[in-house]
Amino acid sequence: MSTPIERIGVFTSGGDGPGMNAAIRAVVRTAALNGVEVVGILGGYDGLVNDRVRALGPRDVSNIVQRGGTILRTARSEAFRTREGRATAHATLQRHGIDGLVAIGGDGTFTGAHILFEEFGTRVIGLPGTIDNDLYGTDRTIGFDTALNTAVEAIDRIRDTASSHDRLFVVEVMGRNTGHIALQCAVAAGAEYVLVPEVAQSIEALVVALSEASGMKSSSIVVVAEGDEEGGAFQIARKVKERSPGYDIRVSVLGHIQRGGTPSVNDRILASRTGVAAVEHLLQGDHDAMVGLVNENVVLTPFADAIGNQKALPQELFHVLTVLAT
Ligand code: F6P
Repeated sequence: MSTPIERIGVFTSGGDGPGMNAAIRAVVRTAALNGVEVVGILGGYDGLVNDRVRALGPRDVSNIVQRGGTILRTARSEAFRTREGRATAHATLQRHGIDGLVAIGGDGTFTGAHILFEEFGTRVIGLPGTIDNDLYGTDRTIGFDTALNTAVEAIDRIRDTASSHDRLFVVEVMGRNTGHIALQCAVAAGAEYVLVPEVAQSIEALVVALSEASGMKSSSIVVVAEGDEEGGAFQIARKVKERSPGYDIRVSVLGHIQRGGTPSVNDRILASRTGVAAVEHLLQGDHDAMVGLVNENVVLTPFADAIGNQKALPQELFHVLTVLAT
């Protein structure tokens, strides 16, 4: 029988995303309502290794539901990758009497949490916090919807200037290992083509698709995920230009603007629902698992599954994009 949970720690880890603050707020207030103390761990796993913690009460999380970024800061910790670093993190937890953790992050965060459980029995529940939407066990991740809307708004603006000048734009969006943002953006912005890391696509196929459509169009937009195997937007643009010198091509890399800004309604609600559920699950004795949203229901998925499976891209959207690009 494990000890009851009287104090929990909450932290954000990996790349930040809009809605993380709403998640922190939900965790702190749910815990307080259940008589559980909360400490915020600053800077993700680095904060655990370096003992950077501070008490968080319900009023400490006022007026943050609408703020982008994370009040707890975040990091990608090198120290935590070592056994020694994790032992130091475990000692921090013991020193502060922290019985359980809520980790808000992506697959790297949950890989760390799973190892911590295996090595030290640390009880962790995860919330899916990444703009990349690449977590198995949840239909959406916290930050994805806002990032998409930011990127689509930017591409809409690019379309204005692209069609005024009869240009081809290659627009790079985030996604080192995945094309969820790229694919959904491409459909929503009415792009002509999308390139994603999960699917091997040749430049020749891209050039053919563009030439088939270009006679009828004043502009073309190709959306590429930063991690595509053909390279980023500048490389794609160069390769297209080599094969089709007639195009007047410009490149736009959207970058970190996708990570900031006011969280969308969908992200705030997702963060609030999963934040409440995370604490309730922890108090009911669940751990080593991530809370996500599947078919609009809050569900728990073991970390081993969340990190061990790849979330498939919605294949139908490739078809939709192709049909609508004609
Ligand atoms: O994981 C989220 C993400 O935004 C990826 O899409 C991107 O490749 C990466 O983070 C960038 O990380 P950093 O801000 O550390 O450069």
